[in-house]
Amino acid sequence: MTDVTTTNTGSPVASDQHSLTVGNTGPIALHDHYVVEKLAQFNRERVPERVVHAKGGGAFGTFVTTGDVSQYTRAALFQPGVETDMLIRFSTVAGEQGSPDTWRDPRGFAVKFYTSEGNYDLVGNNTPVFFIRDGIKFPDFIRSQKRLPGSGLRDNDMQWDFWSLQPESAHQVTWLMGDRGIPATWRHMDGFGSHTYQWINADGERFWVKYHFETNQGNEFLSGAEADELAGQDADHHRRDLYEAIEAGDFPSWTLKVQVMPDEDAKTYRFNPFDLTKVWPHSDYPLIEVGTMTLNKNPENFHAQIEQAAFAPSNFVPGIAASPDKMLLARIFSYADAHRYRVGTNHAELPVNAPKSPIHSYSKDGAMRHHYRAADAPVYAPNSFGGPAGDPAAAGEGNWESDGEMQRAAQTLHAEDDDFGQAGTLVREVLDDAARERLVGNIAGHVAQVRSDDIRERAFAYWDQVDTALGARVRDAVQALHATVS
Ligand code: HEM
Repeated sequence: MTDVTTTNTGSPVASDQHSLTVGNTGPIALHDHYVVEKLAQFNRERVPERVVHAKGGGAFGTFVTTGDVSQYTRAALFQPGVETDMLIRFSTVAGEQGSPDTWRDPRGFAVKFYTSEGNYDLVGNNTPVFFIRDGIKFPDFIRSQKRLPGSGLRDNDMQWDFWSLQPESAHQVTWLMGDRGIPATWRHMDGFGSHTYQWINADGERFWVKYHFETNQGNEFLSGAEADELAGQDADHHRRDLYEAIEAGDFPSWTLKVQVMPDEDAKTYRFNPFDLTKVWPHSDYPLIEVGTMTLNKNPENFHAQIEQAAFAPSNFVPGIAASPDKMLLARIFSYADAHRYRVGTNHAELPVNAPKSPIHSYSKDGAMRHHYRAADAPVYAPNSFGGPAGDPAAAGEGNWESDGEMQRAAQTLHAEDDDFGQAGTLVREVLDDAARERLVGNIAGHVAQVRSDDIRERAFAYWDQVDTALGARVRDAVQALHATVS
């Protein structure tokens, strides 16, 4: 027999189809509390979308540590043979909830490891670098990529105005305009922690680390034309691809590798190793294998498990900590703050966000709280009733040496602390002729839509500084495009 519909509090309701009216043509009675509940609940079905990375999808999986990096970190999840449940969410950055998956953009690569010592979140992208090197610029950067306040339209003038006024963006914009700017699917792209993080081993020694997730499906990409066509046919192309692959038992996997820099190298390295606009050449710091991540389970409920998932770069575990990267330090504030607003104060209690290890926190109360400690458990620390206490042995972990006058300036202590060098190397030494050709085409197609002559000229000058030959080709290609349409 079919169940009788109930209200949210379990009372049977008479009808899902007809509200209670006074006669045939009369008004709806306010005391039809079921229609009120139904409409009111519906109005509250959405939580605010993420201010960035709003469109995405995700899956659950397992991370297995196959290598031995115990000499660099004491993190429980990275000890040989350990298996850890994890969640990943992929995303675009600038588009809203319903926007096409195939627009050119970096892709988010956010991983939550449910470790035996608390949740560890590695919130990265499919690029190893970023557009800016100080978090104070992030709101400006994002606004320049989103929509004009008046028309609500995206605008190439804003994008190139910002990028050309912030030359530190050159390396990331070169990645973005290249093949990696539109991956074929989320399965066919690498992921990066991007920042330099800190690892601490069992002897308390500190190392600086960069994470690389190499796709075992191979890197594949879409041309601009293919991406535009797919954007019209199936805005959810990437979300669908991941879901269907996992449903079919075709589980995608990635090999996690790290680059490790001894602490003492950092001061004298040729550029600031904490600058998020730079990669560390593999010839300086080779990749070391850590383990394999396999995605094998789709969400059962998109809202509960993906939309309400809260990834935060502040979620560290023993053996892993922050670095002096100013971007990372800003992010450590930003995400948990966003979660308190977007999902709620007690977002960490939701099953998808809750750790699978014990919690001994003094946090209490707040909206929607449902876990609570025993009535006689102390609610303050220190106390003389056996409540939890911090671990003084961990007080030195995760720190670093710092000195000097406080300042507001980019670091320029190292010989190669520049804006354009690595972008130029990427163009000249990493890309082949065909990839360079596509890069020129992608940049030109984008810059050709800039209306302001001044901003367009600045965009040309920007590419001249990345690489003179590339700059000249971009200028010619834009002029050719303008000649075709005029
Ligand atoms: C999402 C802030 C830089 C990757 C977000 C969110 C905020 C934010 C507020 C939404 C969080 C939420 O509502 O759940 C910032 C700030 C940055 C910054 C202030 C610079 C200081 C970066 C960088 C990366 C990155 C450098 C990658 C290396 C991501 C990803 C997400 C995200 C992947 C989506 C996480 C998810 O899937 O839920 N960011 N972000 N962000 N950010 Fe950033």
